Amino acid sequence: MTDTDKSQTNTPPRPSAFASRRQFIQMGVATLGAAWAGTFVQSQLFPQPTSQEASPVTFPLAELAVGAAKYITYAGSPVIVIRTAETIKAYSLICTHLGCTLQWQAGQKQFYCPCHDGRFDQFGEVIAGPPPVPLEQFPVSVDGDRIIVGELV
Ligand code: FES
Repeated sequence: MTDTDKSQTNTPPRPSAFASRRQFIQMGVATLGAAWAGTFVQSQLFPQPTSQEASPVTFPLAELAVGAAKYITYAGSPVIVIRTAETIKAYSLICTHLGCTLQWQAGQKQFYCPCHDGRFDQFGEVIAGPPPVPLEQFPVSVDGDRIIVGELV
């Protein structure tokens, strides 16, 4: 028997293409199932607070000049706080269409969504594109020299 003959006899039978494809699909389904189960368990163990449950965010009034904007995280989501000469407002930066993150365009005084060209005015109202409703707005108050986003309990 030659070396070539030995290697041919010791080689395990090659699985058919059908068996490999079935195994591949089974592994894919198992992986997706495991990923879904992990996400579900994580959401049950560590739920994101709603805006009603979230702890308020405070920062010094001096950090937000008139005409400026400040980015914060509130209720686990990106929020922008905008100060004008008249008022201070806080808006979610999550697009109400499909949840993309918005960009504040200070020069145009509008929010832009790069996903589907959605636009909101400086008050969070929809002015263009597919977003169905205005931006979520959060309560803002001023207590002495600090700004509070969210409700104090
Ligand atoms: S996700 Fe913002 S316009 Fe579609």
